[in-house]
Amino acid sequence: MKELISLLAVWSIVLSGLALVGGVVLIRRGDRVNHHRVMLTATFLAALFLVFYLTRWALYGTTAYGGPEAWRWAYYLLLLIPHTLLAALNGPLALYVIWRALRGEFTLHKRWARVLVPIWIYVALSGWAIYLILKRYGVEAGTISF
Ligand code: HEM
Repeated sequence: MKELISLLAVWSIVLSGLALVGGVVLIRRGDRVNHHRVMLTATFLAALFLVFYLTRWALYGTTAYGGPEAWRWAYYLLLLIPHTLLAALNGPLALYVIWRALRGEFTLHKRWARVLVPIWIYVALSGWAIYLILKRYGVEAGTISF
């Protein structure tokens, strides 16, 4: 069950990243209608990821890095810490960007969307990398009891 939830989480974030790239390609081609649909799909998939992620966290706790010591700093500094901080920023920024678009404020929408898109892609790719690293080197870190 734990493995299934992890797999669903990682696929929802990867599909969300792919939808995001698709949405950028569509708007570059001038297809506003499908850009709108595909970007809302990307946002829905990212929200789904959050549900799977929090479910996994609540049921099974966290997994810590247990790989080679020489790579520990790189795992935390280049992957886990920036991934966590940027993932936390991604949600409110995405809502802001969508809100601007729905209000028809496309200059602001575009300005902030160009900041959001690289962050979102980094979060999706680093999430995938973290999943693969922990699948190989993860050690149970236990659940948090209240
Ligand atoms: C998280 C969701 C979204 C993201 C990440 C996003 C991303 C982007 C990006 C990067 C651009 C600029 C493309 C370029 O460089 O030329 C853009 C433009 C645009 N977006 Fe979005 N978008 C999102 C949601 C939406 C929604 C929901 C709508 C519809 C209401 C929308 C409508 C538009 C329009 C009409 C433009 C063109 C604006 C212009 O050229 O003046 N977007 N979007």
